[in-house]
Amino acid sequence: MNQGVIERYRAFLPVSEKTPVVSLLEGSTPLLPAPRLSRELGLPEAAVWLKLEGMNPTGSFKDRGMTVAVSKALEEGARAVVCASTGNTAASAAAYAARAGLRCVVLLPDGAVAAGKLAQSIVHGAEIVAIRGNFDRALELARQASSELGLALVNSVNPYRIQGQKTGAFEVAEALGRPPDYQFMPVGNAGNITAYWAGYREIATRHGLGLPKMMGFQAWGAAPLVLGRPVAEPKTIATAIRIGRPASGEQALRARDESGGMIGRVKDAEILRAYRMLARLEGVFCEPSSAAGVAGLASEAKAGRFKGAGPELRIVCILTGHGLKDPDTPKSLPHKWTTAKADFATLKKILGRNG
Ligand code: F0G
Repeated sequence: MNQGVIERYRAFLPVSEKTPVVSLLEGSTPLLPAPRLSRELGLPEAAVWLKLEGMNPTGSFKDRGMTVAVSKALEEGARAVVCASTGNTAASAAAYAARAGLRCVVLLPDGAVAAGKLAQSIVHGAEIVAIRGNFDRALELARQASSELGLALVNSVNPYRIQGQKTGAFEVAEALGRPPDYQFMPVGNAGNITAYWAGYREIATRHGLGLPKMMGFQAWGAAPLVLGRPVAEPKTIATAIRIGRPASGEQALRARDESGGMIGRVKDAEILRAYRMLARLEGVFCEPSSAAGVAGLASEAKAGRFKGAGPELRIVCILTGHGLKDPDTPKSLPHKWTTAKADFATLKKILGRNG
């Protein structure tokens, strides 16, 4: 039975029996083998595995950290939580705050949040402030609202978020029977790569197992960690990772260096290609940002990084959010669509033409 992240990993999290657990039974997400994708990339059939974080209660990985952050906020007497968000953190904060009976304020970059995520913040009753500015500015304001107005900040700069999110690494290692050789993932504000690296290091210490190479990917127009400087006006269709000044950038670079991995960048066209590939080869619908890690994998595979790898190679891609979060992007892909008169002769003609 899925017990939720806190009950499942209580011994490894900063909670006590006094902590009021606010949970939506997050975590325990599937790790799905991807044999067709593996073959398409020229890799051994059992190489690539997809961690479906979109299967969390609010449709993204944020729930793992949010259950801990909101439970601790409640324990510490908070009445309200605040976050800046490109959409998913806000959706998760809104849902967990609703369940805890806390006020929730979300600061969103105006006009740059996918429709499904906005719908979630609205329906869970968050107070939405659409900032005329980008995520980085919204995060500055959220920090200020926290320090000057006393709202509990539930962005991933809150260490409880990172603690909860590290449980993703525990689940991956349990499912494979060991940590993977490589983990590919998108990087935005860099909390998730920081959390996974913390999780894998804990496993290594506890069980004496090896560590994966951490392979983080930013969008081409929003790649401050690749460029080595902040990006004032980040641009990408992958709105979740449209971030120019990652709060946990230093930790992400440490994860890269300590693991012998890399932080790279992928073009929007590569992200969309990976997004389609996941959907059409494996039946997995993730949001565009989630596909950035897979785009990075495709690029590394093409460059020959895994040449000569044996059947024991294990590569995990973290698919951070569900495709339904962003119902508009698919419309821009080539697809077969005909609006037709309601008769069989017309249908036959269309199917003949399509075939
Ligand atoms: N993928 C998705 C779907 C995200 O929503 C985010 C971040 C990331 C990847 C990157 O993770 O920031 O830990 O490096 N979304 C944040 C938000 C910024 O506000 O929802 P990260």
